[in-house]
Amino acid sequence: MNVLVIGGGGREHALVWKLKQSDRVRRIWCAPGNAGIAELAECVPIAATDIEKLATFASEHRVDLTVVGPEAPLCAGVVDVFAARGLRIFGPTRAAAQLEGSKAFCKQLLLEAGVPTAAAQIFSDAAAARAHVRKQGAPIVVKADGLAAGKGVVVAGTVAEAEQAITDIMERRVFGAAGERVVIEECLGGEEASVMALTDGQTYRLLAPAQDHKRVFDGDRGPNTGGMGAYSPAPVVSARWEPAIHEIFQRTLAGLRARGITYRGVLYAGLMMTAEGPKVLEFNCRFGDPETQVVLPRLDSDLVEVLEACVTGTLSSCPLRWHDNAAVCVVMAAAGYPGEYRRGDVIEGLPAVSGLANVCVFHAGTKRDGTGRVVTDGGRVLGVTAWEHNLAAAVARAYRAVAQVRFAGAQYRRDIAARALSNVMVQT
Ligand code: AMP
Ligand code: GLY
Repeated sequence: MNVLVIGGGGREHALVWKLKQSDRVRRIWCAPGNAGIAELAECVPIAATDIEKLATFASEHRVDLTVVGPEAPLCAGVVDVFAARGLRIFGPTRAAAQLEGSKAFCKQLLLEAGVPTAAAQIFSDAAAARAHVRKQGAPIVVKADGLAAGKGVVVAGTVAEAEQAITDIMERRVFGAAGERVVIEECLGGEEASVMALTDGQTYRLLAPAQDHKRVFDGDRGPNTGGMGAYSPAPVVSARWEPAIHEIFQRTLAGLRARGITYRGVLYAGLMMTAEGPKVLEFNCRFGDPETQVVLPRLDSDLVEVLEACVTGTLSSCPLRWHDNAAVCVVMAAAGYPGEYRRGDVIEGLPAVSGLANVCVFHAGTKRDGTGRVVTDGGRVLGVTAWEHNLAAAVARAYRAVAQVRFAGAQYRRDIAARALSNVMVQT
């Protein structure tokens, strides 16, 4: 069968890599892709948000299944447009993608469905929001309602900081229309974890839990990023919490159904593992990045079969098989990221690393320059990923690979999975 993957980051590279392993896949295209993806698939210069062009490409090239990576096309209705044209596509409809596209929609649904989450109120008036913050006190969390490229959340340590966030989001409109409303919520403490589930609308199947590292510097210091690394399994999501996590997904999917929305695709729960159990921080309507890079190397099942089962409503007869291993992804980022960063630096050492067993360098922001050299072309450049029989061995293997890759100004964290390793040691 012919497959089209939409997107061009590390997550999409991991999707293409795993789809390519299926005997059932003949051709893979990726729009727009990157230099790493180009080694496995045919890259097509169509932006991930150019929905009409993507649909025309899919029908002209007889694509049997389209897989959507990023949230922007999902929230803009790529699945609705493809479905209306009779094209098979993996992902939630625009209505279902509101779970990520509107934090107010998500919070209302969670509260109504009885899903554990931070207590919250929704405001469309800045003065009322500020008054609420003054009444509640700090710490408190202020979230822009709409999509803000992962930057719309302020965990405010003081009332002044929260008021400033309200002004920035609602009055200065630094995230545009995403700031028409804000969600103001209780600040939760604990460790965060990411649990994704695949669903066909009725049946859902949990993917292996993962943890990402959002801050740019070691020891979780510095500004937030799109993710500086990830690992799976996540020991903090112990078997003890499994029933609670199932309940979160069951209630959320039921809450959507009660609104007439069938969710098909991957549903990503960002969880805070509090003393009282897991609570939902957010839902995303897509695969996590970089979580996907560590979850897919652990999946034994044929990904194309599983994704197809989600689209056709047959997931109940499609169990997931897993390898008994652990995976670690170390993101190598450009100098300056997550602020202004450089582009165009030559990346060296990739051919040597491609020969290593149980290692895959997923490209995030790369391209080939005029002379065919692979150069940096984004803030997050590479996700150096390794898998092994346990987490400690996977960490060692990933960092051995990182040491062989070089580009000017490369920055990466030295402590990916370190907390999980120390927890494991404490437990044993
Ligand atoms: P979100 O996009 O809603 O997941 O928020 C981004 C990040 O902000 C999360 O990964 C958490 O680190 C933090 N955060 C969000 N909501 C809360 C909360 N209620 N309490 C504490 N931290 C939060
Ligand atoms: N790693 C966080 C996300 O994909 O949103």
